[in-house]
Amino acid sequence: MNAHILILGGDGVGPEVSHAAKQVLEHIAHTFSHTFSFSEALIGGCAIDATGSALPQASIDAASAADAILLGAVGGPKWDNTKAATRPEDGLLAIRKALGLYANLRPVKAYPELAYASPLRPELLTNVDFLVVRELTGGLYFGQPKERRTRADGGITAVDTLEYHDYEVQRILQLAFQLAEGRRKNVSSVDKANVLETSRLWREHASAMAKDYPAVTLQHVLVDTAAMRLVMSPAQFDVLVTENTFGDILTDEAAVLVGSMGLLPSASLGTQTNAHGFPRGLYEPIHGSAPDIAGKGIANPIGTILSAAMLLRHSLGLNNEASAIENAVQAALQAGARTADLTKENALSTKEMTEKILALVRA
Ligand code: IPM
Ligand code: MG
Repeated sequence: MNAHILILGGDGVGPEVSHAAKQVLEHIAHTFSHTFSFSEALIGGCAIDATGSALPQASIDAASAADAILLGAVGGPKWDNTKAATRPEDGLLAIRKALGLYANLRPVKAYPELAYASPLRPELLTNVDFLVVRELTGGLYFGQPKERRTRADGGITAVDTLEYHDYEVQRILQLAFQLAEGRRKNVSSVDKANVLETSRLWREHASAMAKDYPAVTLQHVLVDTAAMRLVMSPAQFDVLVTENTFGDILTDEAAVLVGSMGLLPSASLGTQTNAHGFPRGLYEPIHGSAPDIAGKGIANPIGTILSAAMLLRHSLGLNNEASAIENAVQAALQAGARTADLTKENALSTKEMTEKILALVRA
């Protein structure tokens, strides 16, 4: 297969981990006789510095021409100013919107050999393997109005708007049910229907959709309860589907369960298809730009490498190749390979971890 992949390295450790994942993709292309071509473009703080925009038009054009996009991370203290006109994170929100990436998939799987690194007791981690399906282009992140108003008394009122259209709710729920059919057939729809109107719309659509998927069991879970259950009995979940802000919060909580945020990948899929008839997805690790360790060459590349595996599976239909990466990561961890986020002693550098994984990729 011929495929073109855009790399958006971004800020902080973003370029380091995306470089590692690119190496893995090149190795896969070689091992499985594919031709992958790569290009790079700017997003986030580095884009603001170079062009004044967190997502320049050239990056949108490059993304629209690619079969899939691999992103590192955006943001950093240099651009952290609540009053700034543009922020690195705006680039991320803009590319999600520009490509119509309404579905964010965040798989969470506990590796038994990393149980020591989790804040949870090891026995709670047995069989933890769930998928969070987060709505990504609606809700509080994008609802209008979103502004500050000066009141008559001279004070300031800030407003964000929580708005969901029925079609936005339907398409994300549908994807969650479809994905559940290929898994353990259990959907937990997370809402706040005891308080929020958007959640009541969400819950009605979830119940109605469950009738179209008789093999799938649906449970409604209030978001506060879901946050609690994620730490008390995470193994009970299969597919969790939820709106944008709840999904943002719950996925950080979920990410630390398995020992390190550095391990987890994500895929954002949407309305556009690529030249191969698959979604033109955006793939990125869950972790941020980690400015404290940027440039040191010690970031854990696994989250990005597993994101590259998701890219192969979802945007190129290359399931065996994706599994080859996932198996290699698992084998490296089983063999004791650890970056600094997972061990105090004998930590591997980003490069060493990547080489360990590369050496374990089997066709
Ligand atoms: C995430 C991040 C982003 C979000 C930030 C960086 C805008 O936290 O992808 O979860 O809130 O969606
Ligand atoms: Mg987040």
